[in-house]
Parts: sequence; structure tokens; C-alpha cells
Amino acid sequence: MDKLVIEGGVPLAGTVAISGAKNAALPILTAALLTDEPLLIDNVPHLRDVSTMLNLLMQMGVTTSLDEKGGVELRAASITKPVAPYELVKTMRASVLVLGPLVARLGEARVSLPGGCAIGLRPVDQHLKGLQALGATIDMAQGYMIARAGRLRGARIRMDIVTVTGTENLMMAATLADGVTVIENAAREPEIPDLAACLTAMGAKISGAGTDVITIEGVARLHGAHHGVMPDRIETGTFLVAAAATGGDVRLTGVRPDTLDAVLDKLRETGVHIETGVDWMRVKANGALKAVNLRTAPYPAFPTDMQAQFMALCSVAQGTSRIIETIFENRFMHVQEMQRLGADIAVEGNTAMIKGVDHLQGATVMATDLRASASLVIAGLIARGATTVERIYHLDRGYERIEEKLSRLGARIRRVR
Ligand code: EPU
Repeated sequence: MDKLVIEGGVPLAGTVAISGAKNAALPILTAALLTDEPLLIDNVPHLRDVSTMLNLLMQMGVTTSLDEKGGVELRAASITKPVAPYELVKTMRASVLVLGPLVARLGEARVSLPGGCAIGLRPVDQHLKGLQALGATIDMAQGYMIARAGRLRGARIRMDIVTVTGTENLMMAATLADGVTVIENAAREPEIPDLAACLTAMGAKISGAGTDVITIEGVARLHGAHHGVMPDRIETGTFLVAAAATGGDVRLTGVRPDTLDAVLDKLRETGVHIETGVDWMRVKANGALKAVNLRTAPYPAFPTDMQAQFMALCSVAQGTSRIIETIFENRFMHVQEMQRLGADIAVEGNTAMIKGVDHLQGATVMATDLRASASLVIAGLIARGATTVERIYHLDRGYERIEEKLSRLGARIRRVR
């Protein structure tokens, strides 16, 4: 299993290009199931989760090809096997995003229940409740959700909780329903308007994506289209925090600063200087970092996917920081690993108190999920001496060539196979 070995203590400096967003690309790839015509997607990041999604779609009969510029063309001319098997779903929960498109286009889907997850329970009841409101029947057998429907019927769906992939699944399903669907208490994450833009290019009629009420007027069929995936706001945030925490000066290109307001506010509170343009940013450390308090919540509030990375930064900030995690009940798995690097962190329930220490000291640590892995890499970049981050297959799920990008910024980091 690959590991990363990091010799910490180098302030990052230089320019880094940000990739397309994993969490926008995954639902957009499944949108190919909604039409028999080709869907061409640009700016798809090269990640393990993307390969897993392409594998899943190919097993269903979707043909895929890569163009010379890294775009992906998908064509679901016929779907031979509307099944998402346990072997794939257990490695990537986003596989559940095939459910809505399959039921809408074919009236049939068999998707494995995702099972346990390192960061929390993560049920899919809201996806199912919404599909039932659109007229699907759902049965459970041998660990699979089996959804069946004739043509879906538009409906008013009020989500009990804000769910990102739940909103995406239902928005996709409703594009081909008969009549109007209104999704209330919808998630507002920027990946949702990006998916809506792709669906609209395919002929869907959607308004309100990016607000908490989305209205979809169903159409009889969707057609092929060409769409470019938005920049990854979490990869952006991860590099911003890495630059700030190492006392660096980094320019990021190919970004969407407007999708990172809450993260930029908190970073500025730590004392770093940030400049933004339309599609670039520059972060420059400005003396000692200051402690911050933050609370994760659905967009536009502070993202849970940036919580662990901020904890690494807070571990060496002056003063005591408080981080409250409200989205996932088990997303502090990085704490014990950071403690092994010398961080002073106490957890009670969903609150972590982080007393800034003078420095971290390198050690061997183990990654438990994607964002926890990123936080341990940042901690390793800050720490004195060598840090080995094990089990980095989590990192490869969501960060494109992270060690190459960090090396180019001056980090002493290498992958050991
Ligand atoms: N929830 C339910 N029932 C549902 C759906 C969700 O109770 O039917 C709960 C979850 O257990 C959680 C909360 O609602 O407590 C929010 O979960 P959500 O459904 O929004 O999460 P998700 O759609 O499964 C996406 C991202 C995650 C990100 C979360 C929150 C994708 C593919 N994944 O997950 O990304 O953390 O939204 O913003 O978009 C990551 O990239 O590292 C990652 C985990």
C-alpha cells in the first residue's frame, strides 16, 4: 500500500492549478444515463472515484471514451444492466447517484445499500422518500434497494434534512417526470447549480438550483450536450490552508473564489492575507496564525469537507480554537493521529477544542477517510522532521496528483510504493 513521506517545515511558494470538482463530476457523469445521446464532459479530474464511477457506468452498458484534452465522452445508447453492485458501492457511496437517473429513464434500478462509512451513519432515506413521492416503489432485498416505476410523476418534495446527493438524485429523476417537481429544503452547494447547468444543456427545465427551492418541469426526453465541470472548491481550500499553515505564499489558478466565502472568512481571521480575482487567488502568510472558532453546516456555511484541514492549521495557531462538526457524527478520526504529532486537542461530543502548540513533531500516522488524509498531509507539512502518512488510497480518491502539486510548491514530499 502506498504511503507519503513528508519532511516538514518548508513554507509553500509558487503557483498551483486546481482541478475539476470531484463532487460536481460524479453526479454529472451519472447524468449521462438520462439520454441515449453522447454527453461530453470537460475538466473531469483524474481521481479514483471518477474511475470507479466510469467503471460502474460501463458495467451498465454505457460506452465511455477519453479525448486528447482529458474530456470524457459518455453514451448510454442502451442500458443493459441497471445495477450498482455492492463491490463498487462499498468503495464509493456516490454510486447511489445512479438511482435517480436509472429510475427516470428505465423505470428500474437495483442499487446496493452503501453500508458502513468511516465518517458517520449516512443513510439514504431522503433519496428514497423523494423517489417514492415521484411515484417509484422501493423494495429491499439481499442488501439492495430495488426501485421500479412507470413514468415518474412530478411532485412537491420537502426534504427533512439538507442532503447534497439526495437533492442531486431527485433533481435528475425529476427532469424526465411527467409534470412539475418542487424540491423544498434543497441543498445549495455550488455543485448543484453546476449539475443543473449540465442538465439544462441537455434540455432539462430547471429553476432555483443554488437556492433551497428547486423547480423542475419534466420533459419527454433529454439530448446530448457538452459541459465543463466547475473547479474543486475543497481542493482549493486544502491548498489555501496548506499554504497558510506553512507560512507560505501561493497563487492558485483555475478557481472559483465565489464558492469559498466561508472558508476565506475563516482564513482571514487566522491572520493570513488573501487576494482574489475572477479565477485566481493568492494566499500569503502574515506572521503568526491566530486561533479561530468554526462550525460546519450546509452551504453557504463552513463546509464539513474543510473541517479536518482547518484543525491541522489550528493545531499550531496562537490561542485555543473551537471546531463544531454538525454534519457527520464521526468526523474527528484525524484527532488521534494529530495527537500523535503533538497536537493538543480535546474532543467532547461534536466539539473539538484545539490548544495551539509551538510546533508539531513528525511521526507515522494513518489516514481514515479522504479529508482526514488531507489534514494529515498538512500536519506533516507543518511538523518538524519526517511524517509518514499511511493508507493514502483515501487521498487518491479525491485529490489529483497531490504530492506532485505540493512538490512543485517546494514541499519535500514523496510517495513510497
Ligand atoms: N442524510 C440522511 N439521510 C439521507 C441523506 C443524508 O440522514 O437520505 C444525512 C447524512 O447522514 C449527513 C447529512 O444528511 O449527516 C448530510 O449528508 P449529505 O447527504 O449532504 O452528504 P452526501 O450527499 O452523502 C456530499 C459529498 C460529501 C460531503 C457532504 C456534505 C458528494 C459525492 N459527497 O455527501 O463529500 O461531505 O455532501 O457536504 O457530493 C468528500 O468529498 O470527502 C465528501 C464526503
